[in-house]
Amino acid sequence: MAYINQNYLKLKAGYLFPEIGRRVKAFQEANPTAKIIRMGIGDVTEPLPPAVIEAMHKAVDEMAKRETFRGYGPEQGYDFLREAIAKNDYVSRGCNISAEEIFVSDGSKCDCGNILDVLGDGNTIAVTDPVYPVYVDTNVMAGHTGAAEEGGEYSGLVYLRSTAANNFSADIPSQHVDLIYLCSPNNPTGTVISRQRLTEWVDYAKKNNAIILFDAAYESYISQSDVPHSIYEIPGAKDVAIEFRSFSKTAGFTGVRAAYTVVPKTLMGKTAQGETVDVYRLWMRRHTTKFNGVNYIVQRGCEAVYSDAGKKQVRALVDFYMANAKIIREKLAAKGMQVFGGVNAPYVWIKTPGNATSWEFFDTLLNKANVVCTPGSGFGKSGEGYIRLSAFNSRENVEEAMKRILAVL
Ligand code: MLT
Repeated sequence: MAYINQNYLKLKAGYLFPEIGRRVKAFQEANPTAKIIRMGIGDVTEPLPPAVIEAMHKAVDEMAKRETFRGYGPEQGYDFLREAIAKNDYVSRGCNISAEEIFVSDGSKCDCGNILDVLGDGNTIAVTDPVYPVYVDTNVMAGHTGAAEEGGEYSGLVYLRSTAANNFSADIPSQHVDLIYLCSPNNPTGTVISRQRLTEWVDYAKKNNAIILFDAAYESYISQSDVPHSIYEIPGAKDVAIEFRSFSKTAGFTGVRAAYTVVPKTLMGKTAQGETVDVYRLWMRRHTTKFNGVNYIVQRGCEAVYSDAGKKQVRALVDFYMANAKIIREKLAAKGMQVFGGVNAPYVWIKTPGNATSWEFFDTLLNKANVVCTPGSGFGKSGEGYIRLSAFNSRENVEEAMKRILAVL
């Protein structure tokens, strides 16, 4: 019999969203007439922008003719897209990122896990708490942690608490760590890391020769002018950070699949013998060996996101979801609930009423309002006593869900 990767046996229960799915399914089977509104997983509901659709249709037609047909493309992404990304997402914000440093992929979740292929086993790893579970689970799978402890946390990881007391923006650790996962705008809390705090993080990483894994999947939802959209807006960040970006939440691509990761050429790691190696070279090798690129049609759709029409349409899409977030925030706040986030992110983070646990309030909302939320405790210890509502929904559903929730509070 072949050996298995026993690290998987350390993983606690299922991944959060399948677990929610199981509970909702059981409820729906027991209550077949209930009209459930899903505000749990952050999945987009509105159709793709017309400019994207038009570009994808055109690309399909190209694939139908011998003269314009394309087979394998460059694994890192077509130049037309990498150049559009560098110009629009970085150079326009004063970040010195080149097209060559951009690796187009099929998702940020995948890249957050895949990046561990090129990082060693001996690193001390810091995650925030609450945290996007993928950062933790992929490290467990890679054997970078010990077993799960009683409270559900893994030995070997450094947990940086993000609570109401620090505005859900983790404090800089006093100890040394080698890898730090940061997510801003944050999933799940919907809050952001300020420019000043991000500068402190970059300084910390420089001092400690650490690497920051910066997840900016929700960057397009930033509405306040001084919030950094990219970690590369911070001087020196190119030497210490990898950035993950996604078309999923920006342009409604959750079902299409496209994202990209920036690995600057100046980012260094070291061997066990203490030699310095550029991470770029390793990531290039990994990406071109294990991945054959995002399909041409989708990459043309991504390129259209940066056209004049595409930019306007994407803005309208983001504004639409953010208007949902505003409704959620304001209605709940008016009822005396403590709400966070939802200003620079499509997630609203809500303190449960009374002393209800996250799962208790999840059950109340499911059973009494037939609304699905995400229990905060699913994101970590410090998420206990909170729930997350996603603003990705139709206006009709958001308004109806608010009516129902307010009625049970
Ligand atoms: C979420 O709801 O947290 C996200 O949809 C998960 C993801 O983007 O993978």
